[in-house]
Amino acid sequence: MKDKLNELAAQSAAAIEAADSLEALEELRVRFLGKKGELTAILKMMGKLSAEERPVMGQLANSVRAKLESELETRKKELGEKALEARMKAEALDVTLPGKHVELGHKHPMYIALDELKDIFIGMGFTVLDGPEVELAEYNFDKLNAEEGHPSRDWSDTFYFDNDSRVMLRSQTSPMQVRAMETMPLPIRIVAPGRVYRKDEVDATHSPMFHQVEGMVIDRHVTMADLKGTLNAMVRRLYGENTKTRFRPHHFPFTEPSCEMDVQCHKCGGVGCPTCKGEGWIELLGAGMIHPHVLEMSGIDPEVYSGWAFGIGLERTAMRRFKIADLRLIFENDLRFLTQF
Ligand code: DAH
Repeated sequence: MKDKLNELAAQSAAAIEAADSLEALEELRVRFLGKKGELTAILKMMGKLSAEERPVMGQLANSVRAKLESELETRKKELGEKALEARMKAEALDVTLPGKHVELGHKHPMYIALDELKDIFIGMGFTVLDGPEVELAEYNFDKLNAEEGHPSRDWSDTFYFDNDSRVMLRSQTSPMQVRAMETMPLPIRIVAPGRVYRKDEVDATHSPMFHQVEGMVIDRHVTMADLKGTLNAMVRRLYGENTKTRFRPHHFPFTEPSCEMDVQCHKCGGVGCPTCKGEGWIELLGAGMIHPHVLEMSGIDPEVYSGWAFGIGLERTAMRRFKIADLRLIFENDLRFLTQF
């Protein structure tokens, strides 16, 4: 029995040393130390030994078991470290390799112009509003003083959803004036950018969808001087300190008086050239003092409060800002065009 134990010790030591994986090692553990393993088989022979021999053999068996266990443990550690090393080698990252180039997008020129406008007005204490593109004619027309029969309500100009002409794609951002008046506490200072829709054929200056930015101020003692001062400040920030402006009388149903604001042509300095079609001036926006009846319809007392509003076309602002000749370029999203800004 002693020989068998010694043989097992020698054999197992060699086998454990030779095991090349954690799985192989586990198989050896079962083979030598398991319930049906070789050591157990030898120990079953204990019964046949004499009373003197038994404790001596028991001691030897225990030391063989202890030696086996510690050898298994040592090999397990070695193999574990080896496996980790191999994994680290396999997953190693070569940080000196050139990286993959990721194409970054950038801002669309129209949104560059919009962000500039927002910055200017946020800096003057205005709040930026967002509103629905599917709008009620009540907001787009009625509460802006454009009653039934007003030419702008015509089916040939406006996208309606229903036969009664009550629901439509907004044709201007001006309904945001009404929405602001109905929901915001006074005083109000807002700008509201967004898409608007009109039945226009596409050409170099027209599109059935385009963008406007609406602006509105309502407070006590607001006058036309505030309107001109604010819009002049905006134009100087957009087109330079020395930009000249002029205000021409005009008509809009929801303002009284109404005006259009022109900027002096940046190309010719006012002399007249193809850019300004010989005029020396370029039309920029519509504006005016909010009609007392419009204030009244939204529950604001025109005896106490007054206000002004403006609406500016965003595509045209961007086209002037970046000297873009054709409106269609703004919408085509051709990268050869877009990456220039
Ligand atoms: N909504 C007008 C348009 O689409 C532009 C406009 C004119 C807006 C005068 C205003 C304003 O707020 O006061 O032509």
